[in-house]
Amino acid sequence: MEVNPPLTIVGCGPGDPDYLTPAADKAVAEAEVLVGTQRLLDLFPRHPGEKIPVGVNIDDVLEAVADRVQRTIAILVTGDPGLASLARPVIRRFGRERCRIIPGISSLQVAFSRLGLDWLDARIIDAHGKDPDLGNDALNRPSKIAVLGGRPQSFEWLQRELGDRLDDFQVTICEDLTLAGERITPWQPGTVLDRELSSRVIFILVRK
Ligand SMILES: C[S@@+](CC[C@H](N)C(=O)[O-])C[C@H]1O[C@@H](n2cnc3c(N)ncnc32)[C@H](O)[C@@H]1O
Repeated sequence: MEVNPPLTIVGCGPGDPDYLTPAADKAVAEAEVLVGTQRLLDLFPRHPGEKIPVGVNIDDVLEAVADRVQRTIAILVTGDPGLASLARPVIRRFGRERCRIIPGISSLQVAFSRLGLDWLDARIIDAHGKDPDLGNDALNRPSKIAVLGGRPQSFEWLQRELGDRLDDFQVTICEDLTLAGERITPWQPGTVLDRELSSRVIFILVRK
């Protein structure tokens, strides 16, 4: 019986090539096919294999992978595969034993590094694709909260969700980390931002 090669899910870091690990580079070099967003594919301009650009539709990504399982495929994801990435649907569809995961440097690690903070006690919330459904007091206790934004509406959601409790936190908006337009902006609850946030945004809240 013919055995298909493993599917390799490669964490590619938050954007700047300096944050790609040698292990990620090696896994990509070994692959015949790269699957990922155009921005991630662009991190490997000299890769000679087939490059399949994908959009936000996860089913399309899974089909593109399913059509090529006999080849050596690297599925490129932003940051670390363990954090709100394609790894979960890929593993659900193809099975954990078929998948090899190469960790990457997460945008979350970079955000906390920029603020000089550890994140052992952080509550991580994924508001990237849609407003998360949290329990009433889910945000009453954590001393740090990290919100993966990703949409303009996520900032509005955060303000609605926390309401007056926002005053208990120092809020920092971290955009386009490691990229040319990186911005780290302290934000005062109640003030209006006079610009649109980047789609690559993390909100870090630290209890005062
Ligand atoms: C689908 S999640 C993927 C997270 C990724 N697996 C990681 O470990 O960074 C996408 C979210 O990651 C965050 N993100 C990714 N790259 C970023 C960057 N360069 N700067 C700021 N936030 C980023 C944003 O919150 C975005 O909405």
